[in-house]
Amino acid sequence: MFCVAIDGPGGAGKSTVAKAAASRMDMQYVDTGAMFRAVAYALIRRGIDPEDEAAIKPVIGDLNVRVDYIDHKQIVSVEDVDVTPYIRTPEVGQGASKVGVHGCVREKLLAIQRQVAEDYSVIMDGRDIGTVVLPMADLKLFITASAEERAKRRYKELVAAGNTEADLATIEAEIRERDYRDSHRAIAPLKQADDAYLLDTTEMTLDEVIDKVCAMIEEARNR
Ligand code: DC
Repeated sequence: MFCVAIDGPGGAGKSTVAKAAASRMDMQYVDTGAMFRAVAYALIRRGIDPEDEAAIKPVIGDLNVRVDYIDHKQIVSVEDVDVTPYIRTPEVGQGASKVGVHGCVREKLLAIQRQVAEDYSVIMDGRDIGTVVLPMADLKLFITASAEERAKRRYKELVAAGNTEADLATIEAEIRERDYRDSHRAIAPLKQADDAYLLDTTEMTLDEVIDKVCAMIEEARNR
């Protein structure tokens, strides 16, 4: 199977770009952040602190996390309940960054991620895809933008969605906190793979990024 690995910090637009490119290039978009979010959501619902590894270890093995691809869309379910509608909140995002520190959680999700890449031609995005999950990917991209720009984009998105309580400074502080935790953890920290192309999108429009990524995929396919 042909596979593309996309890594980068939160809010850089990875998922929007990967989704659009996957649809144009007839590949399957795989959102690994949603898997960490699903685990965080399930733990929070059970009253377990996402930072408490000792409490997570005994339950993670039996937690039934599944991903399905229906009409090219990824559905993540926990105990057969589709959690997709509940995992995009800032609280769950921070929780996902916290559970992502634990080896027992990463190990469980790694097996699911590798299986999906065997079943489909994927564009998979996350933090450790090019470095750990799919080190043999046909194309690796590291998509980033300045923290200020990422916060601004997220703020605009929230305001457009009718959120009147969105606060730019709070959003930027959360982005920086998540960046720090994701890049400084002991296991599979966020970093650019040696053979990944760096795409800094701070000064680019979304369409420019999507066109660039599709052109790179086309080139990698013909290599
Ligand atoms: O991409 P996202 O914002 O949905 O990811 C949420 C968190 O999940 C992110 O801050 C860190 C964690 N994560 C991870 O550790 N490894 C991945 N491959 C994807 C996400």
